[in-house]
Amino acid sequence: MTGGPTSYPWQAWRWDETLFEGAAVYYRRGRKPYAASLAPALAEHLELDGHGRLLDVGCGPGNVALLMAHLLDSVVGLDADAAMVAEAERAAAEEGIANANWVQMRAEELPGSLGTFRIVTFGQSFHWMDRPRVADAVRDMLEPGGAVVQVDLWHGSPPRRESPGGPYPAVPEAAVDELRRRWLGPDRRAGQGFRNTSPDGEDQVFQHAGFAPEQIVVVPDGRVLERSLDDVVAWVLSTSSTAPHLFGDRLGEFVGDLRALLLDASPTGRFSVALSDNRLRIRRPR
Ligand SMILES: C[S@@+](CC[C@H](N)C(=O)[O-])C[C@H]1O[C@@H](n2cnc3c(N)ncnc32)[C@H](O)[C@@H]1O
Repeated sequence: MTGGPTSYPWQAWRWDETLFEGAAVYYRRGRKPYAASLAPALAEHLELDGHGRLLDVGCGPGNVALLMAHLLDSVVGLDADAAMVAEAERAAAEEGIANANWVQMRAEELPGSLGTFRIVTFGQSFHWMDRPRVADAVRDMLEPGGAVVQVDLWHGSPPRRESPGGPYPAVPEAAVDELRRRWLGPDRRAGQGFRNTSPDGEDQVFQHAGFAPEQIVVVPDGRVLERSLDDVVAWVLSTSSTAPHLFGDRLGEFVGDLRALLLDASPTGRFSVALSDNRLRIRRPR
């Protein structure tokens, strides 16, 4: 977003339980996966030895928690969205992961009775929360020697190129965004409200809660994946600004428009997607 005051900035937005309504079933299929070397990189930088507990806050369908489960005694995934928690449970059973537990709860309600943890992760989730309050809460839930890690897909890396480098066309993201605007208006929807911006300055928030300055680690991911048209539809429906609930009983019609647009960009219905590097922001108590 460039220049001038922005309508509906993140500060004015309030969370409600419809934020990801209907998105959970599309999430694991639609979203870009984390780097294959994410878990080993976390194990190395956090000096994991197979023991301790991990809490994944805003776990969605369990993407980070499930990747990390074999590196710890146990993991707990927490999410405010009941359908996300159900998807995480389903994925854990499917992958035969028995040391994971799932809790439906808002991060703002922490610590609850969850106990203490060696590691607390936030996978692309902290920006939705009451950040000072949640940073304070997790500071008090860390065991001595513990750390908090924000895990993100670093969308600026690799830099956007005309072509992702694979055999198929890129996903026409600008045209998909134009379709979103046509259906839902110019401002980005988020639950029952609007939100056009995301906060930054996380390091300040965490330092204020008693953490030392962050350590940044970039985990490269040079893969180019082949995605089907249905995978791309799942990506669109997995995001909060085009979550299924926003279309009400016209969801089928929207998906029809989306499929036509995607087929126009790639008549074979195949797309090449360049994966993003992952960025870890590791924070330890001062
Ligand atoms: C973009 S998804 C990230 C899912 C997963 N962590 C990942 O790495 O792919 C954000 C998740 O944060 C959850 N979330 C948003 N605000 C929350 C809050 N205040 N408390 C708990 N979970 C929240 C949403 O329900 C959603 O599942």
